[in-house]
Amino acid sequence: MMFDFTETQLMIQETARKFAEEELAPSAAERDEKEEFPYNAVKKLGELGFMGMIVPEQYGGAGLDMISYVLAIEEISKVDASCGVIMSVNNSLVCYGINEWGTEDQKQKFLIPLATGKKLGAFALSEPEAGSDASNQKTTAVRHGDYYLLNGTKNFTTNGAHADIILVMATTDKLKGSHGISTFIVEKGTPGLSIAKKEKKLGIRSSDTVSLAFQDCSVPAENRIGEEGFGFKFAMKTLDGGRIGIASQAVGIAKASLEASLKYSKQRKAFGQYLADFQAIQFKLADMATKIDAAQMLTLKAAALKEEGKPFAHLAAMAKLYASMIAVECASEAIQIHGGYGYIKEYNVERYLRDAKITEIYEGTSEVQRIVISRSLLKD
Ligand code: CAA
Repeated sequence: MMFDFTETQLMIQETARKFAEEELAPSAAERDEKEEFPYNAVKKLGELGFMGMIVPEQYGGAGLDMISYVLAIEEISKVDASCGVIMSVNNSLVCYGINEWGTEDQKQKFLIPLATGKKLGAFALSEPEAGSDASNQKTTAVRHGDYYLLNGTKNFTTNGAHADIILVMATTDKLKGSHGISTFIVEKGTPGLSIAKKEKKLGIRSSDTVSLAFQDCSVPAENRIGEEGFGFKFAMKTLDGGRIGIASQAVGIAKASLEASLKYSKQRKAFGQYLADFQAIQFKLADMATKIDAAQMLTLKAAALKEEGKPFAHLAAMAKLYASMIAVECASEAIQIHGGYGYIKEYNVERYLRDAKITEIYEGTSEVQRIVISRSLLKD
């Protein structure tokens, strides 16, 4: 497997880097502080084709490959991990899910506006009692002729407050367990759908995370994705790809932590020499760089396998597991290198640590990734 990037991939990386530096960097810390959603940035990401990167052009996407997608998410997350997750959820969960399993009508009606960035998507799987145990869905969808009535609560829904289109997993047949779950496309403004609570978070504070309440929310039967009972597999398969997006986000945060540490250690003097002249600091930098490269390689390998249509779920889990772990480590080391200055908001490294932590939790905790990896090792 080769990782010589193509001209297009390098161009996408450069475009994302420039966008992040020019459009996101000046306001990322302030938006984090004020918990302000990056409306303008998301609109511009849409114009750049970054909200539907791997969607075919015929459905409004950029028609790019998974490697380009990884490189773009990394660059965006390096500067603003909140923007990284907004982009990742829209691309790898919502657009991917509709593109892969939606009907032609669903693609025309929902995928095109999502992929062009005119509308924003969310993915509502988690519930108060269904986090890692995702098949324990309590939200119900009961069919009445040509529509379903949805009732229940979803929580921790990224993009939930701003999303125009939400993919909702709900039980259509309780007796069938994970085989009785179905997926529905629910539009903002549908009567019976409301935002129950906006969460206040440790990190990724300028992305929004909400609980959604469904009370006799009427959804047309034509908005169901796939057959009844396909919802759990839909969610799992979609999350397999989503984990590549989150791994890329984690690599981006880790890279930002290293870059900040390199810069600071060449500026700051202690005991008459630059921090960079101390072997204790040099070794920290060396470890960070080595782990980041390993995490990026795993992420690119998962992306390449997905691109080639080969089994990639275990690799995506490995990439997310490892990249999220080293993102937390690198951000923590960056604070250590910055000393007291790292702990205050004058530098960005405290934000990197707060943002890194969620990559070990959402789209499957590190423990869930270990389940996926070990099951793949032990099968047969
Ligand atoms: N692809 C296809 N099918 C899959 C699959 C996959 N990746 N994973 C499981 N399945 C199938 C199984 O083969 C099985 O099918 P059969 O019964 O036909 O054999 C069925 O689904 C049930 O699978 P399991 O028995 O493995 O299910 P489980 O209850 O043991 O759960 C789990 C497995 C891996 C723990 C799963 O529940 C899981 O991934 N949990 C974490 C959920 C998660 O990632 N949530 C994130 C929320 S979304 C989010 O964070 C987005 C955001 O806003 C940022």
